[in-house]
Formats: sequence, structure tokens, C-alpha cells
Amino acid sequence: MLDLTNIRAILAEHYDLAPSVEKAEAMADIYARMDRVVPAADWAIYAPYVAAINALKKERNAVILAHNYMTPEIYHGIADFVGDSLQLAIKATEVEEDVIVQCGVHFMAETSKVLNPGKTVLIPDMGAGCSLAESITAAGIEEMRAKYPGAPVVSYVNTTAEVKAASDICCTSSNALQIVEAMDSDTVIMTPDQYLAQNVANESTKKVVFWPGSCIVHELYTAEDLRAYRELDPEVKIIAHPECTPAVVAESDFTGSTSGIIKWVHDNKPAKAMLVTECSMASNIADELPEVEFAKPCNMCPYMKKITLEKVLYSLHTMTEEVIVDPAVADKARQAVQRMIDLSQSLAK
Ligand code: 13P
Ligand code: SF4
Repeated sequence: MLDLTNIRAILAEHYDLAPSVEKAEAMADIYARMDRVVPAADWAIYAPYVAAINALKKERNAVILAHNYMTPEIYHGIADFVGDSLQLAIKATEVEEDVIVQCGVHFMAETSKVLNPGKTVLIPDMGAGCSLAESITAAGIEEMRAKYPGAPVVSYVNTTAEVKAASDICCTSSNALQIVEAMDSDTVIMTPDQYLAQNVANESTKKVVFWPGSCIVHELYTAEDLRAYRELDPEVKIIAHPECTPAVVAESDFTGSTSGIIKWVHDNKPAKAMLVTECSMASNIADELPEVEFAKPCNMCPYMKKITLEKVLYSLHTMTEEVIVDPAVADKARQAVQRMIDLSQSLAK
């Protein structure tokens, strides 16, 4: 586990990280993208980190790929590219810099490494896991294959490289239905998210069998809670991620990946919206959409929130923690990820 006291002492030796109104004002353009959700005093604390990271990024020839669940100071302050899991994977195939700093969770960094074996991929905290990725191993995939002989295995990208390597193809929340439909089999195995699989099954022509994993953030939402909220505020539009249960999805006005959710809110501009997903989603788009009032109930991902400005600066300063994937595993995992990217892009044409 990272020792924050030690990290602070090392950073203090090399950088001036004292809160600074001058640095905050010098980056007023960046602050303007989050001033609806980040108080000015907080920005004066973040600004020295943002300035130091953005300068160090150039020195190290590094790029920061950040997931939509990052906090606003990361999402707007230091990220070079933000997106959902599919967009991040595609972007990882286009990176020119030598170093990728993944602001997200471990499976995302592993995917970047699998797609870029020659580059250095850093994650600011190795402890940024995912309940879905932890729910299954390659042995679980073999168990499913033995139970459903001949059925292709579609694994969510929220899995380890080992699990991807044991799968036929990957999917993300934005392409799961299309990938399952494209399989040349009446029965399709989906791992490890039971709710994503059930939501796909509800719209698919295939028999979808699944592994009993779940996301600790999205499984907390209930259809009863959503109905109660709608009764209190009938104007609210409820927008859910497909890692939620089918009952929650049935209660929602729209379901989509994190970027799908952002796009839907931009396109529809509802007066009131409840994003049934991780808390930072609403914060990150609040300034772009002043006409939308976002409902406050949300659940936080403890793994995503392990990534902080302080840890990103330390990661770039020390060039740690480096993500390493066994080359033989990476070769097989790359096939499953690349197959998904190719299929997804050809279906989008
Ligand atoms: P997206 O691919 O929709 O960004 O989802 C990733 C994730 O971990 C959601 O919990
Ligand atoms: Fe994993 Fe859920 Fe966190 Fe996404 S929100 S990283 S699926 S635990």
C-alpha cells in the first residue's frame, strides 16, 4: 500500500505545492470548466498539483488517459483524453507518447499495456481494483466452457489480462449487445457481470448465460429507491448504467455506458437528471450543462477514488507504479481486445 506520509515528504522536497491563489488565477481557464462544483479555495489547493503534473507530463513525454469517473480536478485539470472503457481502449492504440498514465482502475491500465507492450504504463495506485475484475479468474472461464461446450466467451473489459486471454472476445458497456449478437452461436457466455449479461439478454436473440459477478457501486441502486425519487420529483429523468440490475434499468429513461450517459444528457438537456452511476459523472459535466439540475443521490467507487492528484504527481515523479503483463498472456489478451475494437468499429460504419 502507498505510504502517503512518505509520498508527501518526497513531493515537498521537489515541488512547491503550497495552496496558491496566484497559480489558481493563472489557470482560470481550466477552473472555469469545474467552478460550479469545485469551490475556489479547493482550486487554490489543487492548482499547484495541476501545474506540476502538466509540466512533468511534457518532460516525461507522457499522456494521461482518464476514465469518466475521475474527480473534476483530474478530469478537467490534467487529463489529455477522457472517455468510457471502449474509448480509452481505442485511444490507447493511438498513443504516440512513451508513457501512459492511466487515471482509472487497474484493468484499464492493463488494457493499455496489452495494446502497447513497448510503452511504459503507470497507474498512480496499484490498489485501484474493481469488484468485477476480482470476481473471476481464468479457471472460472474454463468452468463456464465446460458447462456450456462450444459457446463463445464474451468477457467484459472489467477483467484481468489473464481472463481476457482465456476469452474469445471482450465487450464494454457500450457494445455488449452488438458483440453478443455478432457471435456465431445460439448460446453465448458472458462474464463476469451478471447484471450487464441479464440486461443484454433482455434485448438479445441469443441465450445468454453468465457468471455471478457484480459491480459494488451499481448493485446498490434499487428500483424502489428510483420510484420513490420519481414520486418526489416527477420531472426527473433517470439515466442508468447497464451494470445496474434489470429492475433498475427498467425504471430508467435511458441506459448507456458512461460516455453514452454524458451524450444523452447533452443531447436531451433535461431540466432535472439523476445519473444512476458513480458520483463524479454529474460533477464532471455540471459546468457544460448549466441548464441541467443534477440530483444528488449517487454511489462512489472506492477504487476509482484511489486516484488523486498527489498520487499522479508521485507516479510521474518516480515513474511508478508500472503495470507489467506477461508477454504470452498479453498476446492472447490483445486478440480478445482487438477483436472487440475491430468488430465494434466495423459495426459502427
Ligand atoms: P464504461 O465503459 O461505461 O465507462 O464503464 C466502466 C465502469 O467501470 C463502469 O462502472
Ligand atoms: Fe469496477 Fe464498479 Fe468501480 Fe466500475 S464502478 S471500476 S465496475 S467497482
